[in-house]
Amino acid sequence: MITHDIIVIGGGLAGMRAAIGASKESDIAIITRTHPVRSHSGAAQGGINAVIDERDSIESHWFDTVKGSDYLCDQDAAEILVREAPFNIYQIEHWGTIFSRTVNGRIAQRPFGGQSFPRTCYGADKTGHLILQTLNEQLMKHDIKIYHEWTVTKIVVIDGIVRGVVAYEQASGEFIGVRAKSVIVTTGGAGRMYKVTSNAHVCTGDGMALALKAGAALKDMECLQFHPTGLYRQGILVSEGCRGEGGYLLSDDKLDLNSPISIQANRFMKKYAPEKMELGPRDLVSRSIWTEIIEGRGINGRDFVYLDLRHIGEKKIMERLPQVRELCLNYVGVDPIKDPIPVQPTAHFTMGGISTDVNGISPEIEGMFAAGECACVSCHGANRLGGNSLLETIVFGKRSGENASKYAKTHSLKAFPTVEFKDELDRINRLLENDGNESVSGIRTELQEAMTIGVGIFRDEEIMKRAIDKIRELKERYNNINIQDKGRVYNTDLIGALELENLLILAEIVAVGAYSRKESRGAHYRNDYPHRDDNKWLKHTLAKFTPEGLRFEYKKVNITKFQPQERKY
Ligand code: FUM
Repeated sequence: MITHDIIVIGGGLAGMRAAIGASKESDIAIITRTHPVRSHSGAAQGGINAVIDERDSIESHWFDTVKGSDYLCDQDAAEILVREAPFNIYQIEHWGTIFSRTVNGRIAQRPFGGQSFPRTCYGADKTGHLILQTLNEQLMKHDIKIYHEWTVTKIVVIDGIVRGVVAYEQASGEFIGVRAKSVIVTTGGAGRMYKVTSNAHVCTGDGMALALKAGAALKDMECLQFHPTGLYRQGILVSEGCRGEGGYLLSDDKLDLNSPISIQANRFMKKYAPEKMELGPRDLVSRSIWTEIIEGRGINGRDFVYLDLRHIGEKKIMERLPQVRELCLNYVGVDPIKDPIPVQPTAHFTMGGISTDVNGISPEIEGMFAAGECACVSCHGANRLGGNSLLETIVFGKRSGENASKYAKTHSLKAFPTVEFKDELDRINRLLENDGNESVSGIRTELQEAMTIGVGIFRDEEIMKRAIDKIRELKERYNNINIQDKGRVYNTDLIGALELENLLILAEIVAVGAYSRKESRGAHYRNDYPHRDDNKWLKHTLAKFTPEGLRFEYKKVNITKFQPQERKY
């Protein structure tokens, strides 16, 4: 058994920032499935929002965030996000993050969707990656212990208090108990429940499912964001920075790519967001693209539209969007300097997650904290604005780390009974020995199909009911899986099975939450209830795990300043 004051589960930006925040005064360690600089936070390309220009204002960033959320965010959480943004940006800048610069040497900012001022600070289109490098250096500076390529399989909670975790060390094949006063869950989102996603393979919602099973509540899981521009079929992110730099979205109504008049005529966003055009919020732009496709105006009648950057020119593309160009060349053989990029919406961000307060504290479990995409503070509500997710990782990562440290100083280490460890080992052994006839990949593929069709960009009662039935059938069939690799060392088959269990649990919560929410709000759009209904649905969904099964409850939204209004762009 290993012991630390605090265990951070997850080595992405939120996890690293939490660990740095806690390291001054507590014995903290990170358990992570991948090396921190390879974490999914590196996929956030286009930038991070903050008010650092005198012409901008905190109130404007706050309002844009609340409006973008379709009024489902807690406004106190959104206020903290935006108020603490400038300090955090300058802090990482001083730590060494290489931001792009204006001619005056200031941090460069570009416009992103749903903003009333261009406030997205960027480092070309590698912003997440650059911040990852910076925080990794800070981890080394603070000599923070990292358990690489370890997978947490259980968070041990007894009598509502955290005792530690059980983790699988892939290289040795051992299962290890780690005793701790508290855990900070920072494991990212769950986009892998969909067929086309921008999320890394590791984004299977593990931390959310582990926290839920330990007794935490998950909030607003039905609110799942589709990024408008995923690379066709691959789902790989094509940054909103492309539209921030002036890229056009084009559908095919007799489109002639050589005619400037035809190009302007085919910029379909003028129908849906006449003021903001391509820089509408993501929920609206994704629905608009999908509408064009459904109505037969995809390119050559197919299921994609074009993102055209050609007019931006080679110099700017090479300077500001070099990674996008490289991804396009490598994955679809298109050079955006010469040709438009085929794009379609891609499952991108889980707005919901482990319910926490603004200090990252789970109200249900003493000693449990969460931050980043796996948490729901909730500062994004039903639709997150681009550039607010990197911001969330550092603002709320820092807060959760500092508060976990305060907790560790005032609480003693509690017992971690060996029976908890043994029970988990027995469960894993049963899974490995299962001699069923279902494959992990087969069930996962069927789950991704069901979620894509049933709980996607457009939803209605009938298709969601079919998805729920399917998920429940798959959960039954999961009991009959067969893990072919029976060994212990680097058993990725076993990890795949554990991930699938987590995805199935979360998919049911997403689908039932969406089925129950009889309105449209942000990314949750129902054809059968196309309007927002503040009288009945201005409330958070909470899902809890009980011995009798899932239980859903609702909680008031915290409105401190901005009364809900109709959302127009
Ligand atoms: O489009 C992007 O560059 C993604 C940024 C984000 O999700 O915040």
